[in-house]
Amino acid sequence: MKRYLFFCLLILMNVACENWQKSKMEPVYNKEIVEKAHLGKLIMEQECSLCHDPKASMVNRIAPPMVAIKRHYIDSNTTKEEFMEALIRWVNDPETETKMPGAHAKFGPMPYMPIPDDAIAQIADYIYDNELECPEGFGSCFQKVHMKGSGMEKCNYVDYPDAEGFYASIGLSYAKEAKSLLGENLAKVIREKGIVEAIDFCHSAAIKLTDSISIMNNAIVKRVSDQTRNPENQANEEELRYILNFKKALASGDDMKPIVHINNGEVNFYYPIITNTLCLQCHGKPDEQILPETLSALKFVYPKDKAMGYGDNEVRGIWSINFDTDN
Ligand code: HEC
Ligand code: HEC
Repeated sequence: MKRYLFFCLLILMNVACENWQKSKMEPVYNKEIVEKAHLGKLIMEQECSLCHDPKASMVNRIAPPMVAIKRHYIDSNTTKEEFMEALIRWVNDPETETKMPGAHAKFGPMPYMPIPDDAIAQIADYIYDNELECPEGFGSCFQKVHMKGSGMEKCNYVDYPDAEGFYASIGLSYAKEAKSLLGENLAKVIREKGIVEAIDFCHSAAIKLTDSISIMNNAIVKRVSDQTRNPENQANEEELRYILNFKKALASGDDMKPIVHINNGEVNFYYPIITNTLCLQCHGKPDEQILPETLSALKFVYPKDKAMGYGDNEVRGIWSINFDTDN
């Protein structure tokens, strides 16, 4: 029986090797076979994916996903040989100059691992020629737009032509994270203790909760408004302009696309916060949606409150989020 198994294994290995050799000779053909049999992929999965896992969520990440590394190491002018050398240099000495200072600050140093150079070269070969798995939050597999021509040997990286769309998806994921953290907590307090208690909760916890999202993501996540309840959330001049733009877009039924500015390795992201009926209990019209006891509690904590009089589906403010292009 053992012998039989051994033969099976031999046959399997033969098939795998044949495929691999074939793919080496004819790289333009069946992409699936090339990918399946690529030694670099296997080594990468065994040695690197533990930390560079594309499936880890934004919060659970312990190292940048490999696709982000690819983007930083390969642009339209980088040859495969240059990339191989750079990757070998890095893995042999992860203290050398980082190309991803944001990742370095966020995740700490990568440990040294004794991996032979030719194994790293295989990984580099695989990364250079193939599309890598995109983690959630990286847009809809943005690598596809990097493809030039149809043949695989031409599958090269060019600068991301739609960097704004790419960073918009990252900004949106932070905004969503913050929104659900605030929303879930607020709903729970309202359910368990009522509106007046919930005001206390917002007062003591809203900024702390958005700060916690900031720390987790190495970003600055703020909720700002043109009509503030807490003056700390006052929008600056630039933000006020965007609030106005979003109000106009909402009124004319246009799409509310995020605003993204990229400058010197920094991204500024803005996205509207829209009211629904739940909000009106504290941000609606006094004595209509805001009950008298809520109103007096609000007046007590926020004597300069300007955040009332809203209706359903109005721009209450914006998410103003700042992060590094390495995030
Ligand atoms: C034990 C976890 C771990 C493993 C395993 C690991 N890495 Fe890393 N890697 C990290 C961390 C953490 C960073 C971010 C630190 C940095 O960029 O300085 C990183 C960053 C990198 C970078 C970006 C370097 C830069 O310019 O900043 C490259 C390239 C890289 N890893 C390649 C690899 C390859 C290839 C493998 C597999 C052979 C691998 N890593 C395995 C943790 C790991
Ligand atoms: C229980 C009452 C309550 C409800 C319900 C409520 N808020 Fe608030 N909201 C507050 C309080 C209190 C603050 C001030 C928080 C602080 O001190 O940081 C606030 C602040 C804000 C801010 C920050 C800007 C500012 O004015 O200080 C935004 C934006 C906001 N709320 C949007 C909403 C939206 C959108 C909803 C509905 C999904 C909502 N709120 C529901 C009580 C509430």
